[in-house]
Order: sequence, then C-alpha cells, then structure tokens
Amino acid sequence: MSTVAFWSPLKGGSGNSAHAAATSVTIGMDYRLKSLLMHGGMAKERIEGAFHTASHPLDHSLIHFQDHGMDALERLCLNRRLTRDNLQDYTLPLLPDRLDLVQGTAKTEGTLPGYRKELLQSICMIANHRYDLVLIDAGGGIPKEGSGDQALLESADLIVVSLNQSIKSLDLFFEDGSCPAVVAQKPHIIVLGRYDKHSHCTLSNVKRRFGYKGSIHGIPYTTDFLDAWNMRGVLPFLQRSRNLNSRQPAAAFLASIRLLVRDILTQLEMTSVLKLVERGA
Ligand SMILES: Nc1ncnc2c1ncn2[C@@H]1O[C@H](COP(=O)(O)OP(=O)(O)O)[C@@H](O)[C@H]1O
Ligand SMILES: [Mg+2]
Repeated sequence: MSTVAFWSPLKGGSGNSAHAAATSVTIGMDYRLKSLLMHGGMAKERIEGAFHTASHPLDHSLIHFQDHGMDALERLCLNRRLTRDNLQDYTLPLLPDRLDLVQGTAKTEGTLPGYRKELLQSICMIANHRYDLVLIDAGGGIPKEGSGDQALLESADLIVVSLNQSIKSLDLFFEDGSCPAVVAQKPHIIVLGRYDKHSHCTLSNVKRRFGYKGSIHGIPYTTDFLDAWNMRGVLPFLQRSRNLNSRQPAAAFLASIRLLVRDILTQLEMTSVLKLVERGA
C-alpha cells in the first residue's frame, strides 16, 4: 500500500521510463507483491514503449480504446463508480497476479481539464486499496502546476529520481532551489541511468562533490537492454537475464535493478517481503 513515482529533472534520455519499467517487472518476478504500473502521459508513451501490449488478449479491436486505461479510470472516478474491485478490469495484465498496466490518456488534459489532480489522486488512493504497490512514471522536467505528473508526484510516498553522469544534469538537481518542492520534501533515491563505471563521475564522487548523504544507484549502460526496449521486449529480457552467468552484461543490469528494488522496499519499510525471499519462500 505505497506509491512510488519515477521522475527526472531532465526532459528525456535519463532512463527514467526504463527504470520504472524494469523495477516494476523485477518486483513482480522476485516478490509476492501485486503492483499497478501507470503514468501521467499520453497513451503509447513512456513505459508503454517497453511492453508488447498489443498482443494482450484484452487489447484487441473488440474492446474500444476508451474502455480501458487512464481515460476510463478518470471517467469512472468522476462518476464515483471506480472501486477497488473494478479497477483491475481497466488495466492490461503484464505478469499474471503480479503486475498490471494502466495505459495513458488519449487527451493531454485528461478527462475533465481542471480536475485532473483530484481524479488522479483519488485513482491512486483506490489503487492503493487493491495493490501492494502503485508504481508511476511521472515523466521528466519540472512538472507544471495542475498537470497529471504534478498530481502523481504529490501522491507518492517515495520518489526515484533519474539523472545521468553529466555534471550539468547533476547541477540541475543538486543546485540550491532547482529541485521542485514536491520532490525535495519527499524521501527520494537517486539513480544514474546508462551508468559508465569507468567515468570519474562515480557514485561515490557524486556523493562527495554534492555532499549527498542519501542513497544512489547506477544502472549500467546495457546494449541488450536498449535493443530489448526497441523491440518492446523488456519483460522477456528480464526473465532471460535471471538465468545468465553474472559476468553477462544483462545479468549485471538485472543485479543493479535488484539493488534498487531492495532499496525501494527497505525505504517503504516493506522488509518482511525481503526476508521471505531471502529464506527462499
Ligand atoms: N541502462 C541502459 N542501458 C541501455 N539503454 C538504456 C538504459 N537506460 C535507458 N536506455 C535507453 O535509453 C533510451 C531512453 O530511455 P528512457 O527510459 O525512455 O528515458 P526517459 O524516460 O528519461 O526519457 C531508451 O531507448 C532506453 O531503452
Ligand atoms: Mg520517459
């Protein structure tokens, strides 16, 4: 019953959607938790690019687009007909009983412009009654007041902030006053995307330079992941990576996502599920 938002101060390319997608799948593969993955953008954008949703039985032409995804949830919520029991009917299953996806909206402003914040925050609240975790791709850049992403960031209990190893991107986040209040006020974890461990800009150097005491992760640049994303095959990529020798880059990628997942679950004080997995339950 917690909400985690993935966000980046950069408008694109930090790996924010990649981290949201890979983290959600890994939680579903490794833990007995039921998660809902959603985002504040348009249909087919962001995390949706990671998955082959078109092949899902629900996503065929018999069912009109409006009948699922964020538009349907917003409409039901507006009519006070959205409940913890019917919410799942408007999602796409990615991992049976573990991970469902809500597709983005068809309209930039959402169903009822001006009420997006209230609707999205109610949807998050209802989803939290049904799922163990609500995972959100809240996009990149400073969120506009009244936008869906701003509303979703406000709903989050924890924010995963994606940056990269460029000093400019790090300055953008760490410089006084440039981090939006909604992020600065909440617990957050920093992730450096497309991480190159041979750079001088290592995790410990970043901590030292910016006097950062919180947790920070690097997700290694992985060619096979990039190709998997382009083929909408992030799910099978991660499933395959579990069986690879730890020297393989894809296994190292999964290992780095697993460390991030442990950190997220620890910060959310969901340590009992961590212990179950350690005992092999
Ligand atoms: N660790 C990584 N290794 C290789 N490619 C990556 C990695 N992280 C992200 N990418 C790729 O970089 C591109 C941008 O990533 P994306 O997650 O969409 O960034 P953002 O959401 O910040 O715009 C995508 O093609 C994605 O597959
Ligand atoms: Mg993105």
